[in-house]
Amino acid sequence: MDPALQKFLHLAADQLTEWMGSAAAATPFPLVRPQPEVAPSPEGADMESLLHDLQTVMDGAFQPSHPGSLAHLDPPPLTASIAADLICAGLNNNLLAEELSPGLSSLEQQLCIWFCSRLGLPENSGGVLASGGTLSNLMGLVVARSASASDQGVIFCSRDAHVSLQKAAMVMGVPADALQQLPVDVNGALCTTALEDALQAMKARGLPCLAVVATAGTTVRGAVDPLLAIAELCAHHGIWLHVDAAIGGVFALSSATSSLMQGLNRADSITLNPQKLLGITKTSSLFLVRDKARLRETFATGLPYMESPTGEHHGGEVGLQGTRPAEVLKLWLGLRQLGEQGITAVLQGALERRRLLAQHLSSDRLQLLSGDLHLLAFRPRWGDAQQTKQWSEHTRSRLLRAGFLLSRPQYDDHHWLKAVLGNPHTTTEHLQQLADLIQSDLPG
Ligand SMILES: Cc1ncc(COP(=O)(O)O)c(C=O)c1O
Repeated sequence: MDPALQKFLHLAADQLTEWMGSAAAATPFPLVRPQPEVAPSPEGADMESLLHDLQTVMDGAFQPSHPGSLAHLDPPPLTASIAADLICAGLNNNLLAEELSPGLSSLEQQLCIWFCSRLGLPENSGGVLASGGTLSNLMGLVVARSASASDQGVIFCSRDAHVSLQKAAMVMGVPADALQQLPVDVNGALCTTALEDALQAMKARGLPCLAVVATAGTTVRGAVDPLLAIAELCAHHGIWLHVDAAIGGVFALSSATSSLMQGLNRADSITLNPQKLLGITKTSSLFLVRDKARLRETFATGLPYMESPTGEHHGGEVGLQGTRPAEVLKLWLGLRQLGEQGITAVLQGALERRRLLAQHLSSDRLQLLSGDLHLLAFRPRWGDAQQTKQWSEHTRSRLLRAGFLLSRPQYDDHHWLKAVLGNPHTTTEHLQQLADLIQSDLPG
């Protein structure tokens, strides 16, 4: 037993619980940010001074547990997930190879299989955890390319698809115009007729297509592309379908909300980020594939300096990352804490808060932008781009001073304010207060 470790953990835990417990006392985003000492001191610091250093950083941190934290897809962390993250650091296992993480390698494989079966993927499906959705999307396109007859080809996605696809294309070295963004309909979902026309045109010209990427939950408005219709088209043309369900995929976990993800089970590969709504601490992303053999086919290099795995595979041979932490621990324990009922409550609660806020906002005065999920963007109905820029800037800082943090995306040549209603601490009273504040100072 190391008494210094024990004391440090106790004190750090007290400090953290105090920080989280007093979340509502300040604003979600610090108005001043104290600067910590950056360089290590010559003789090293004692515990007291390290805790003081930590407090300085905590005082300048974004506070996801504040009930007015509604800007992004960063909800308050779950208790079990925080504890598991701490244990993960203490275990310091490495998912690169089975001999460095014997039980955890198997837990990751089993949990991916549980996700696949919950999503309705077939028996030989599986996956790997990744440090964020950007990496999962990159893996999706790399696996698609390795499964394709040609290593050239166009990738189709919607205009509202996430910017990580551009990064993936850049890393993969595909030409800049290989990523083709198609129009969306009035609901922000990929226009299937545009996709159909594009695929027909490619076929007529004898050009290869690497993949279609559908988005299940777009970043600005939470729109879900028509997954079933897109899957039909991909099957017809024999094209890999990757679904970026980083935001929406979790809704498939509960029978109460799974109809929102109809067709997700037809994907060849899926990105799903439990970090975005369920309260699993960052980072937590899954890359799931319909045929798990594809992972080894794409990424296995052999690990000649490691013993052969006794289980299915080394974690470093089924994905892009080498050394990585056992992020599975906080995902697994967080889900165990929630249970089936807790998962459903988180998902339904977020949808209900979106519905309530939309109901409180006057659609006569505000243009509301939303899809089927828990995101809601809005701007005044009147005003040109310059006026909406000023309005959004001014209103955002006014709301922050009142304890609400919203984001300010650019969409359709305008600045909007966006609320992500994934914070379970936000009550119906908070939503009414937020709507009143927004509408108390509208132009026109
Ligand atoms: C739809 C979508 N896909 C992918 C990503 C990238 O995920 P990450 O930030 O975890 O890399 C995001 C991030 O917001 C997203 O909204």
